[in-house]
Amino acid sequence: MTKLDPKIIKKVENLRKEINRHDHLYYVLAQPEISDLEYDKLYSELKKLEEEYPELVTPDSPTQRVGGEPTKEFPNVTHSTPMLSLSNTYSEDDIRNFDRKVRELLPAQKIHYVCELKYDGVSLSLKYVNGGLVSGATRGDGYRGDEITANVKTIRSIPLRISYDKSSKTNCDIRGEVIMNLKEFKRMNDEKELLGEKIFANPRNSVAGTLKLQDPKIVASRPLRFYGYALHSKELPLKSHFESLKILRQFGFLIDQHAKRFDNIDNVIEHWKEWEQKRDTLPFDIDGIVVKVDSLAQQEALGAIAKSPRWAIACKFSSRKAETILNDIRLQVGRIGTITPVAILEPVKIGGTMVSRASLYNEDYILEKDIRISDTVVVERGGDVIPKVTSVIIEKRKSDCAIYSFPKKCPECGTNLVRAEEESNYYCDNSECPMQIRGRIEHWAARGAMDITGLGESVVDKLVSNKFVNNVADLYDLHKYKDQLSAMDRWGEKSVQKLLDGIEKSKQRQYHYVIFSLGIRHIGATVAQVLAEHFTSIDELMKASESDLQAIHEIGPKITQSILRFFSDSRNIKIIEQLKKSGLKMRNEQVALGRELAGKVFVLTGTLTSYGREQAQELIQELGGKVSSTVSKNIDILVVGEDPGSKLEKAKKLGIEIWTEEKFKSIINADKR
Ligand code: IVH
Repeated sequence: MTKLDPKIIKKVENLRKEINRHDHLYYVLAQPEISDLEYDKLYSELKKLEEEYPELVTPDSPTQRVGGEPTKEFPNVTHSTPMLSLSNTYSEDDIRNFDRKVRELLPAQKIHYVCELKYDGVSLSLKYVNGGLVSGATRGDGYRGDEITANVKTIRSIPLRISYDKSSKTNCDIRGEVIMNLKEFKRMNDEKELLGEKIFANPRNSVAGTLKLQDPKIVASRPLRFYGYALHSKELPLKSHFESLKILRQFGFLIDQHAKRFDNIDNVIEHWKEWEQKRDTLPFDIDGIVVKVDSLAQQEALGAIAKSPRWAIACKFSSRKAETILNDIRLQVGRIGTITPVAILEPVKIGGTMVSRASLYNEDYILEKDIRISDTVVVERGGDVIPKVTSVIIEKRKSDCAIYSFPKKCPECGTNLVRAEEESNYYCDNSECPMQIRGRIEHWAARGAMDITGLGESVVDKLVSNKFVNNVADLYDLHKYKDQLSAMDRWGEKSVQKLLDGIEKSKQRQYHYVIFSLGIRHIGATVAQVLAEHFTSIDELMKASESDLQAIHEIGPKITQSILRFFSDSRNIKIIEQLKKSGLKMRNEQVALGRELAGKVFVLTGTLTSYGREQAQELIQELGGKVSSTVSKNIDILVVGEDPGSKLEKAKKLGIEIWTEEKFKSIINADKR
């Protein structure tokens, strides 16, 4: 075997360090320093090197987070320390009782409590051996759980390698909770809905469902996060729980930033009450706080009864369910015409908030639960997720109320509603339906789509109802009406300018975002990316035939039909032509350029002002080109810097294509955008 160049080894190590640092900045500290594109570049550079030098791949390389083929079954593992559960308390008296028992068992000792948030997710146990993550397992029955290591490794807020101090090879078990942030949960569900897939009822179900998936690639695409709350290790000098949290943070884990240490139960109770009020300010769901005796020696002395420790309790918040009357069911029209039934409720207070509307999802949901107008229903609320009707109190049903029958016409425009086979939603098929016009523009502007700040629901409403825009392409002509807009009620010049700037900036969004933003039914962000890779321009996509589309692995008949249908509508073609004229990105520059440069042979001559020689060579190679040092008839392109030598003359004689540095730069930069 040839010996590896130490420079390559160093480069791979540095790339790994950089990627891990950026993962931590992004997923744990929420302070990213680089763009997604720059991150992707680092990642693909490492991936490429590892493919070239497979002997350099290590299990803790960031490229190994998503690996392996789908598993058939998860092996069962025994936890080295049992995963206990907590006894629940709901009242101040219960909490005082807990404190009394602790003091009785530890007479005359000073006691400190640590209060932590009680995450509403799924608990997980991680095992690190010699500093490397070796396994991840679910709680199971507390003694034995499922080993789901491949899935766990995809969670970016879980470090693959930890160290207590630089030299030590840490061995420990770490416990914590896997959760989903509410916003990310909602975005994921929206995308599922768009794809016609079944949506999850709440973040916790979604986490549980995701961790059970057999394909780590799908798990990797779900927005899971892990918060550490316990550290077990024989070799670390741990004295208190509070210290463990600090070490977990040092290891790179997310921990509860609001955790507090108190020396009396009154402050604990106050903390609990405070968080009951503040729970909605958090980005994720919690269902209480956990109170733990801080000293590990005291924890050991207190021990456990049955499956719960005597040194900790869960102080739960009051339930966020309530009973109320369902006064009516109204239909809401979404951006692609999806009809969503909404429950109009007799207003009821749930967890401090008045609730008068709740989600009913679709016709099947209503029929399965046999929800009828005038029924007494149970309504549940979690975080900032819209409340939902979860069940009916049948005993309270009036004798004369009829089974709900789904309306046949769109409430906005009167068009007949359609429900495709195997789909749970009804649609309004009139693309000129006023609600759809608004919805499409809102979707165009959304984060993850064209990302136009300042173009939310109320602004869209104003623009559409005042006839400034009728479709997404009109947004790019809006600058012509700047004065009229600024003169409008409660809209100053500054905010109009901000909106126009946001619209202008969106012209730089890559081609796959444009495809996604068009709002073609069943085309989520991921499918849009797949399409952009296969059809490198919108013209190619528009021309794609049924068999062209079906030939792509990720594209099934439902998506194919939806695309064909979208592009057969002349109104959509007109919008796309208008968008093209406005200068939006309508081709996959990376692939197009890659195709242009792949295999071409370059020679550089003269001094390049913007790049060093080596850097220019690397850039050409990255795009699939080759670099040669002498001009011959086998050369495709000569790049000319300042004071070129005799190579220029020779190239001219041979009729070789000549690029100025300016041209070279613009092509390279187009690739980076
Ligand atoms: S400590 C022996 N801390 O609540 C103590 N648990 O019924 C082990 N949970 O299964 C648990 N947040 O899934 C602890 N900050 C937190 C927690 C927490 C949520 C969950 C955990 C556990 C259940 C207890």
